[in-house]
Amino acid sequence: MMSSGARVVVGVSGASGAALALECLRCLAETEVESCLVLSSNAELTINQELGMSVEEFSGHADRVFDNRNIGASIASGTFRTDGMIVAPCSMKTLSGVANGFSENLLLRAADVTLKEQRPLVLMVRESPLSAIHVDNMAKLARIPGVVLMPPLLTFYNEPTSVDDMVHHIVCKALQVFDIECSGFHRWS
Ligand SMILES: Cc1cc2nc3c(=O)[nH]c(=O)nc-3n(C[C@H](O)[C@H](O)[C@H](O)COP(=O)(O)O)c2cc1C
Repeated sequence: MMSSGARVVVGVSGASGAALALECLRCLAETEVESCLVLSSNAELTINQELGMSVEEFSGHADRVFDNRNIGASIASGTFRTDGMIVAPCSMKTLSGVANGFSENLLLRAADVTLKEQRPLVLMVRESPLSAIHVDNMAKLARIPGVVLMPPLLTFYNEPTSVDDMVHHIVCKALQVFDIECSGFHRWS
């Protein structure tokens, strides 16, 4: 389990699956780990549409919130200590930005910093179907130690009875990368 003082950056991009981001923030809120949220302007759309939530209400689940346009924020620097970053969900555009070092906003810069500082970076990539460009960008990143590509695929072995169960399961699995244990995580035994 992560010690107190730990900190994880949570990036939310405009792919479908805002529920993944919310669950991630909720799970982190149950721990001592500080969540540092940065969301793209397109994520604001999916948060509104898919969760029926305002950005203010959504952001209230994070410990700290950063403006995606503020490229000078602390998470843009490698000297700011974090234990890694998760992008949930990760759009194909943000995937491309990360894969190509194109840090045009704070979310992308924070991911770039996570890579250069060799910290864990979990990308919950979501698109279907995938083009060769999407797959090439994933393959490029998959070769970098510390990068975990975790598309939010359906799981059945945990015997889910709802979409919420599936969302919780995949988010718990993603947070395990940071050695964070969530309550109610169903392990295969
Ligand atoms: C409702 C909605 C759902 C979307 N779902 C996806 C998706 O699942 N995957 C994806 O790559 N893009 C998706 N998009 C498109 C992205 O939002 C778009 O490419 C955007 O430029 C991504 O920018 P960002 O990564 O900075 O948020 C969706 C857009 C909307 C409005």
